[in-house]
Amino acid sequence: MSDLLKNEIQNRRTFAIISHPDAGKTTLTEKLLLFGGAIRDAGTVKGKKTGKFATSDWMEIEKQRGISVTSSVMQFDYSGHRVNILDTPGHQDFSEDTYRTLMAVDSAVMIIDVAKGIEAQTVKLFKVCKMRGIPIFTFINKMDRQGKEPLELMEELEEVLGIESYAMNWPIGMGKEFLGIYDRYNKRVEPFRSEGDRFLDIDEDGQLIEDHEMKKTSYYTQAMEDIALLDEAGNDFSIERVKKGELTPVFFGSALANFGVETFLETYLQFAPSPQPRETKEQEEINPIDMPFSGFIFKIQANMNPAHRDRIAFVRIVSGKFERGMNVTLSRTGKSFKLSQTTQFLADDRETVSEAVAGDIIGLHDVGNYQIGDTITSGKKFHFENLPQFTPELFMKVTAKNVMKQKHFHKGILQLVQEGAIQYYKTLHLEEVILGAVGQLQFEVFEHRMKNEYNVEVRMEPIGSKIARWIENEEDVKESMSSGRSMLVKDRFDNLVFLFENEFATRWFQDKNPEIRLYSLL
Ligand code: G4P
Repeated sequence: MSDLLKNEIQNRRTFAIISHPDAGKTTLTEKLLLFGGAIRDAGTVKGKKTGKFATSDWMEIEKQRGISVTSSVMQFDYSGHRVNILDTPGHQDFSEDTYRTLMAVDSAVMIIDVAKGIEAQTVKLFKVCKMRGIPIFTFINKMDRQGKEPLELMEELEEVLGIESYAMNWPIGMGKEFLGIYDRYNKRVEPFRSEGDRFLDIDEDGQLIEDHEMKKTSYYTQAMEDIALLDEAGNDFSIERVKKGELTPVFFGSALANFGVETFLETYLQFAPSPQPRETKEQEEINPIDMPFSGFIFKIQANMNPAHRDRIAFVRIVSGKFERGMNVTLSRTGKSFKLSQTTQFLADDRETVSEAVAGDIIGLHDVGNYQIGDTITSGKKFHFENLPQFTPELFMKVTAKNVMKQKHFHKGILQLVQEGAIQYYKTLHLEEVILGAVGQLQFEVFEHRMKNEYNVEVRMEPIGSKIARWIENEEDVKESMSSGRSMLVKDRFDNLVFLFENEFATRWFQDKNPEIRLYSLL
């Protein structure tokens, strides 16, 4: 591999932003894209959310295809790095795809709202990142609003998430009294600009002048005391521990006011890892700077427009370089094909790319050939390790409205399950179909696709949220242990699973049947 290509790969940074809805993911993303010159005006990313599409060509693809391409992968260049941001949808869009996206990144940025602290969805996404041991960078947002004490938030990180933290900077006041941040690394104050020029006097080393007004405030004194405490009793900074995901560097700022964002980006680029190697089932390690080209499919996005039945398969490139028109093999089937015109790519020229390298994401036009977790390679055949299965939380009983459509019904379900769109379970004797999902949207997509792609109308009967637990010692399970509150079903591999009504029912069951060893997937 040429030095130029190696360099290109090593300068890639591929990450996802994890946060609870409303913490500021869209706002921060937009600021990052502005720094990278990928968008010209603020409001471009935001527009998508409210359905007001901007008229850039980028959005045009989205409109034509009726799917959300834009928000799925965003790419920009900044100070010698090419940055790929992978979207992790929130709200109702939350689905297994959201989790799987985290399988395709090398690091994560966690945004926390200073007033709310760590919220439910952040915890879920964090767990997946933690399981992979990837570096997590924390941005505590909305410092221009009143919120929790910074030390309290640092404690929350350790207590709720179990990750150690290191404050890279420290706020001086907050809300209306937010005066700036103290950069611990460069040992200097960055004044917050919305205060007019009052606090902007800094000398040529970037230090506050001797009798600076800010130094006379109680907020400054408090911040200096906090920092002294952190220096004394806090964690030490260790890049090795950051890389292992054991220590999270914490930044304070305001995405909306664009304060602290650029410093965050620069520090992130400095410490975040370049594309990482991946293990194969053949127990080989594939290095990004190895040739030939290889990658795996982590997400398949269905086209919600009934006029197009096609889908896009998202590939994370693990090694080498993709070139338009190259021949690749799909390891699962052994089939070879050419990645050419039929392929839709996502990149900064917004329509097609002719080249992409390890760390990048490309989108393949799919007519049903791919499955989640598939490996494609231009060299010898191997298989990347399976993507994990996630514990669903929502369940529905489904039947075909028209009993004559049973064959289509089962075919549709089989394919959608294989594709990773939904999880399949069945009751023990009647074999009624129960579908599991991590987000409500998955059911809606399922219903829509069954109708449009398989011509089957389905009846969906919600059975609510459940706690799914698999069983280590299945041989000890008796059907009499099953009840309305602890329903016994089988998953698609015929493993037994208990669906408990709630935490209480789970504990009740364990008290009564201590010999049964339950476990959850991720
Ligand atoms: P999300 O993608 O994580 O869901 O959050 P988003 O960026 O959409 O931000 C949610 C709300 O929080 C928005 O306000 C946004 O303007 C606001 N916000 C984001 N960052 C900051 C910040 O640093 N300081 C303050 N004060 N607010 C921030 P909204 O009223 O819901 O939307 P909009 O009407 O402003 O678009």
